[in-house]
Amino acid sequence: MVETPNYDGPLPQCQGPKLKPFPHRKSKVDFIRLLSDSESTGGIESGGHAHVFEVSIEGETYALKVFKFFDDEEVRAGLNYTRADHSISIDLLHSHSDPFYNECRAFGQIIQAGQNGRVAVRCYGHLTLPAETEEDLDQRYKLAWDRPAEDCDKPMSQRQPFRAIVKELVIDDVPLSQKVVNKMVKDLKKMRALGVYPMDVCRRNYRAGLLVDMSLAMTEPHYLFGLRSKRHVDDMKREDLANVLQIAKDGGFTCRVRDDEFCSKIRAREGSF
Ligand SMILES: Nc1ncnc2c1ncn2[C@@H]1O[C@H](COP(=O)(O)OP(=O)(O)O)[C@@H](O)[C@H]1O
Ligand SMILES: [Mg+2]
Repeated sequence: MVETPNYDGPLPQCQGPKLKPFPHRKSKVDFIRLLSDSESTGGIESGGHAHVFEVSIEGETYALKVFKFFDDEEVRAGLNYTRADHSISIDLLHSHSDPFYNECRAFGQIIQAGQNGRVAVRCYGHLTLPAETEEDLDQRYKLAWDRPAEDCDKPMSQRQPFRAIVKELVIDDVPLSQKVVNKMVKDLKKMRALGVYPMDVCRRNYRAGLLVDMSLAMTEPHYLFGLRSKRHVDDMKREDLANVLQIAKDGGFTCRVRDDEFCSKIRAREGSF
């Protein structure tokens, strides 16, 4: 069982990059509308890792990404295929694979490097919402939250809170262009230099040319980078660029990546740049 962290402090509590709490986290959150047009299953929006809302806090509008509940055991079950995997503590595993913490670590590192709002959408910190919020949201939206069964048996006041991340709201999108593709590549290279690998580079995760989704991001130091072979890790680290290359290709744009080490594998796979 993972211990409940101090939600009023930087998260995650393991070593490495952390995200600070949102300054106005105790203020009332007004939910304006659902932004994520997620998958619908039988009338219930199942979504990806979270549901994203336009909200108003202290008169300012934001995008609030409210995370679904995360099951450590599922990740653990999928991990144990080498002996070394057994040495990973449940706390470290949780801090490096829970989509909420993945975002905390990635944005924490970007903020620390003075790149907030430059290489990805601006992030303002994390906050929690009391379990009671689910009742209010249920009245307006039919959303899946994957709350653990044992939690549902408890009285509302003792249930786990929702964890959320406050980001800049990006209303106006821009069409893909050569300029946008160039910026996407530049941003990914800058993030790579900071040890941040978003691992989910696709069109729907960009708004106005900025990456908004870090749910799957791997940020150094990451336990998996220490466990897998160099070749495997290099392959993982190249995935983002391979994906942006595909986006460019699909849109009829070119993708210039000059750093040989960065692109050699992809060049071999794709034929040329
Ligand atoms: N900052 C934002 N401003 C506007 N829309 C956003 C913002 N963040 C996310 N969205 C919308 O919500 C969708 C889901 O958000 P995302 O962070 O990708 O969640 P998930 O991890 O569940 O995929 C995005 O594809 C985008 O359409
Ligand atoms: Mg997404």
